Amino acid sequence: MRTTRWRFIQRRLFVAGLAGICVLYGFTRPSLHAQDYPPDRARGKSVYERHCQKCHGPTGRGDGPAADSLKVPPANFQRFQSFLKSDEELLRTIEHGVVYSPMHSWRGQLTDGEMQDVVAYIRLLSQQAR
Ligand code: HEC
Repeated sequence: MRTTRWRFIQRRLFVAGLAGICVLYGFTRPSLHAQDYPPDRARGKSVYERHCQKCHGPTGRGDGPAADSLKVPPANFQRFQSFLKSDEELLRTIEHGVVYSPMHSWRGQLTDGEMQDVVAYIRLLSQQAR
């Protein structure tokens, strides 16, 4: 009687141990998807300053030095219209550009990671305004 009970407990402990190992493995395993890495805002800032600031302005209001000479004014990231857009929408605009506007496609000039970082930086600019 005692021994069967002990066996039962042993089996339970074994199963619990296995489950524990699986859970720990799940938590510690590094994620391999590139998209899951958090965007790097510092890198986004340097991309922005190099490529975007001349039109979109230092705080994203669309008042960069080149803005006056453009037929279509650069987007003001601090307006609600931009603020409410999803990261995917902004990313798509950066990747493909806007037709008939000075906002050309950046695909080929920026890597996927740089585009994601610059979106994170634009988000920061639009949040700072609030
Ligand atoms: C030559 C000037 C110019 C440069 C340089 C430029 N943009 Fe633009 N951008 C524009 C203009 C103009 C628009 C607005 C187009 C429209 O509304 O039709 C725009 C629109 C956008 C939008 C869409 C905003 C919205 O609310 O839909 C995003 C996002 C954007 N730009 C990001 C960038 C990023 C990131 C860079 C740098 C990698 C950049 N732009 C460089 C002129 C520029």
